[in-house]
Amino acid sequence: MVTSLDVASRGCSHSSHAPGRGWRRTVFAAAGALLLGLAGCGNESTPAPKAPAGSTPAPAAKTATPSATPADPNPADHPAPAQPKASDAPAASTPATGEPILVGHYASMTGKEATFGQSTDNGIKLAIKEINAAGGLNGRPLKLITYDTKGESKEAGNAVTRLITNDKVAAVLGEVASGLSLAGGAVCQQYGVPMISPSSTNLRVTQGRDMVFRVCFTDDQQSYAQVKFIRDNLKLAKSGILYDQAQAYSKGLRDDFATLFTKMGGTIVADQAFTGGDTDFSAQLTSIKAAGAEIIYVPAYYTEGGNIALQARKLGITAPLMGGDGWDSEQLAKIGGQAIEGSYYSNHSAPDQPNSDIGSFIAKYKAEYQGQMPDALGGLGYDSAMVLFDAMKRGKSLAGKDLRDAIATTKDFKGVSGVITIDKNRNAFKPIVIVQMKKGQPSWVANIDPVKP
Ligand code: PHE
Repeated sequence: MVTSLDVASRGCSHSSHAPGRGWRRTVFAAAGALLLGLAGCGNESTPAPKAPAGSTPAPAAKTATPSATPADPNPADHPAPAQPKASDAPAASTPATGEPILVGHYASMTGKEATFGQSTDNGIKLAIKEINAAGGLNGRPLKLITYDTKGESKEAGNAVTRLITNDKVAAVLGEVASGLSLAGGAVCQQYGVPMISPSSTNLRVTQGRDMVFRVCFTDDQQSYAQVKFIRDNLKLAKSGILYDQAQAYSKGLRDDFATLFTKMGGTIVADQAFTGGDTDFSAQLTSIKAAGAEIIYVPAYYTEGGNIALQARKLGITAPLMGGDGWDSEQLAKIGGQAIEGSYYSNHSAPDQPNSDIGSFIAKYKAEYQGQMPDALGGLGYDSAMVLFDAMKRGKSLAGKDLRDAIATTKDFKGVSGVITIDKNRNAFKPIVIVQMKKGQPSWVANIDPVKP
């Protein structure tokens, strides 16, 4: 199998050796500058206004259906201010003792996409801990309220309604899954409270919603990278597709992929669907095998991705699979085992990616979470929170529209998942990473620069 880096690795022209000390210094200096900058607003004399709910006309709180359960029964998990660790944050100039600024997070903390919510929540908590340790925002500590969506869109809507109408959060972070961000985004838009999704890539998530942002690339870019890699690097021409017809994310990628793959000279030899939660994929895989697919495109989440790989190998299919960012979980290899080895997926970052700032974040995350290796969602969660806090610092006030305007002008923000500039459609634009599963780990293969929309 061809895994040459030459064609697709345009974004990474340097060697893949570990970066030297100078590089590390720059990264830490940048992170420190951000923290100092954010903490610096603790010395400003104008107090920040309170959370925006009072200033934004909101429908009656009766519409709240608080069936979502608090994800964290132990509020001591997010103390504010957090204790600074000498190693990772500048010393606090002023302790954050003011009234807390409430930030909401809705996430799949349980269910079959549980690692999505857990990793993201870890990343957000790390960001909050750092900001609070450095004095908070205008002397006010940040406080996170997380509700579990269980990976269900109805729960997502309920969780966001509750965050806004009961808890009166200033802004909402989440969700990971596009379908859930579509549901939660509708609520944020209705109430005029800004939302930043760390990682929902479906195009519709931010469309027509001026309160909804994301800090990741979009699926038109992701599918382009997948097709480009299959055609130019792997030089394969016949693809099968097996997608989740119940997920906006999966359906969107399938549509884009099918169009692009054909446009770039390939043929879709079999196009099969399942519904999330299904456990038997043998009928679909048998058709794909019979059609002679050289690669199988599976834009699903990791639970189905791992199971599909297992069943494909049982049926004697040797063709590699290609997934999207939805595969990104340590659970992929736990479920797929040997069957997932050699397959590829596109992602936002890879731990062994050359020329990236991700190394210093991985070290901080591991120090905080008992040596646990962050997946891409840890970094994206951290970035979504830091982009929000930067906007809170720059904005005229914390009221919905002022905060929205500040988020919208985010430019060249140095995130751990790459440089973030929010465009006029409230999306970010970043290179896509292709990884291959090797010995149970995603291993960096290429960076692909997306085409400008
Ligand atoms: N992009 C996926 C979606 O929109 C979510 C996801 C992002 C999952 C990154 C894993 C890693 O549904």
